[in-house]
Amino acid sequence: MHNSARIADPTVAVDPAADPAEAADQPQRGRERMILAQPIAAQGTGIPYDEKAKLQRLDSKTVFMMGDNPALPRMPKAPKLLDFFRLRFSEITYRHLLQSAKTALDAGQDEKVVMACLLHDISNGCLLRTDHGYWSAQLVAPYVSEEVAWAVRYHQALRYFADESVGFKYPDAYNDFFGPDYEPPEYIRQAHDEARRHRWYMTSRLITIYDVYAFQENWTVDPEQFTDLIGRHFKEPKEGLGFDGSASAHMWRTMIWPNNFL
Ligand SMILES: [Fe+2]
Ligand SMILES: [Fe+2]
Repeated sequence: MHNSARIADPTVAVDPAADPAEAADQPQRGRERMILAQPIAAQGTGIPYDEKAKLQRLDSKTVFMMGDNPALPRMPKAPKLLDFFRLRFSEITYRHLLQSAKTALDAGQDEKVVMACLLHDISNGCLLRTDHGYWSAQLVAPYVSEEVAWAVRYHQALRYFADESVGFKYPDAYNDFFGPDYEPPEYIRQAHDEARRHRWYMTSRLITIYDVYAFQENWTVDPEQFTDLIGRHFKEPKEGLGFDGSASAHMWRTMIWPNNFL
């Protein structure tokens, strides 16, 4: 299962000795390990960014966390795509991606569309929400076809613009999220215009169509049913995601060890 019940308070320091399985091979064992929230998460929120106070607490018994956090489920040594779904993603993203892919599958869509739906909001799972289409595309680009990565990137912009020809209206949810008078910024308009003229437009547009119906509670989709599809459309590196030296390996490692100080 994914980790929604086990999310740690990021301001609390964790003692690795609390996890006996961890202690023996843990270089920081016996010390209090402090976690500093990511700077981008504290910006503008009023959440105190206690960098200075924590630096002042450093001593022989107190260090900054590096490596496995026992408050999070331990990832396999060579993690695969679905390990991130189960062990790292928030409950909402976990459900949303699986429901979106399942809806596309049941509608008889091409496998590349189902794959794009399964990945489209992946950065929201445990990395970054802001400009999520771009971050998500970058994360998966080394492992999927150029078309799937392109579709993931542009779905962010396409969500703001109706396409009557396929029955896509501006999402009601966006009126709730942003207010009914919200207007998307210029870079989003430009991305939409670019996408409309592109030969892969419909692949990205289809993501936005299966996106709409995919926030249901009480509907559990088993991730295992996508194993074969992932095998055909997502090149899992043999070293595991995070350890293959790809252009986005550091982003996968950041999700494995989200509390590393550096
Ligand atoms: Fe999205
Ligand atoms: Fe979505």
